[in-house]
Amino acid sequence: MNVVSIVGARPQFVKAAILVPELVRSGCSHGLIHTGQHYDYAMSQVFFDQLDLPAPDVSLDVGSASHAAQTAEMMRRLEPALESLRPDLAIVYGDTNSTLAGAVTAAKMCIPVAHVEAGLRSFDWEMPEEVNRIVADHVSRLHFAPTQAAANRLAHEGITSNVHVVGDVMVDLVMRTAQSLPVRPAVLDRLQLSRKGYAVATIHRASNTADLEAFGQIIGGLERLPMPVIFPVHPRTEPLARALGLDNRVDSGASRIVAIEPLPYVDMIGLLRDARVVVTDSGGLQKEAMTLAVPCVTLRDATEWPETVAAGWNRLVGNDPDAIEEAALASPPNSAPPRCYGDGRTAMRIAKLVAHETIAQPEDPVVVRL
Ligand code: UD1
Repeated sequence: MNVVSIVGARPQFVKAAILVPELVRSGCSHGLIHTGQHYDYAMSQVFFDQLDLPAPDVSLDVGSASHAAQTAEMMRRLEPALESLRPDLAIVYGDTNSTLAGAVTAAKMCIPVAHVEAGLRSFDWEMPEEVNRIVADHVSRLHFAPTQAAANRLAHEGITSNVHVVGDVMVDLVMRTAQSLPVRPAVLDRLQLSRKGYAVATIHRASNTADLEAFGQIIGGLERLPMPVIFPVHPRTEPLARALGLDNRVDSGASRIVAIEPLPYVDMIGLLRDARVVVTDSGGLQKEAMTLAVPCVTLRDATEWPETVAAGWNRLVGNDPDAIEEAALASPPNSAPPRCYGDGRTAMRIAKLVAHETIAQPEDPVVVRL
């Protein structure tokens, strides 16, 4: 099986880092295409260096643009790349513009597509990621769903063949990484933090970064927390953080928010594990936090990971400062987090399916019910 993975944004490097070695171990030959959606060292290359992800076979260097222009440019450059690699299967990950471009381009070239993280829905059509994941699911031939609930949602939309409930690849990596962390990660010393005495915040969703109003509300909520708030700033968010004068001093007096560069993966997991709470609009951090038994406050009104909310480890608060403060200071649940996203062997399961399964044609006419 000649397989190509199409990646381009930070969470996809993390997902591919755990899956690609398993695909190779299962006997697949593997090629990597990097669209260039994320391109700063701290957003891209550091993940290749730290997680031993093989260098891309093809780099498309697309960079930033509007949604349509970025996706279109990716598709334009992907076509000849896929033409030269001619894979038996193209794997796309998650819900970014790189996922959308990869899935549509490969499907139109009659290359079967496999979607890792299939069947997730936030039911919020204003999120570009919701559009991306729905399209990716509907043009894919192999669907790797993290949970039975995700598989059920695919069935509800008429997708019933080649759906495999496998768990979540990000949870594989966070479990493995947490096992190898030192008792006190270096990042805590660097930032002079005490265990469980600080919060971590990340903000990058379009809904929270489109203007200063929503962002300012969130910062207002974070400033009320009686602890340092470590804030690795995404490039999209950097101009807003600068406009509000956030800086990187732990003892800045006026604000206890410590704005720092985006962190490499292992540092981020170390920082997360020892945090009292994480406040975020990221998808990945919600499940990483629950896996590490760290309470999560999500700066959105909906989530594609509802199991984290049902289990009591995640609270949805939008951008309301009062709700942020209240949720961040609430006591964590008494019960241990459920292992609803797999046992840490998802990547192995996917690799076996890819290497050994023949991909059936979709059954009969597909009825799409959204
Ligand atoms: C994307 C994904 C989101 C994912 C997130 C992880 C889409 C629609 N969104 O959002 O699902 O959770 O990645 O980070 O695909 N930039 C830089 N340097 C970089 C990367 C980005 O300066 O290395 C800036 C660009 O100027 C651009 C913005 O950040 O304006 C990135 O926008 P976009 O490509 O939409 O990605 P994210 O916001 O990161």
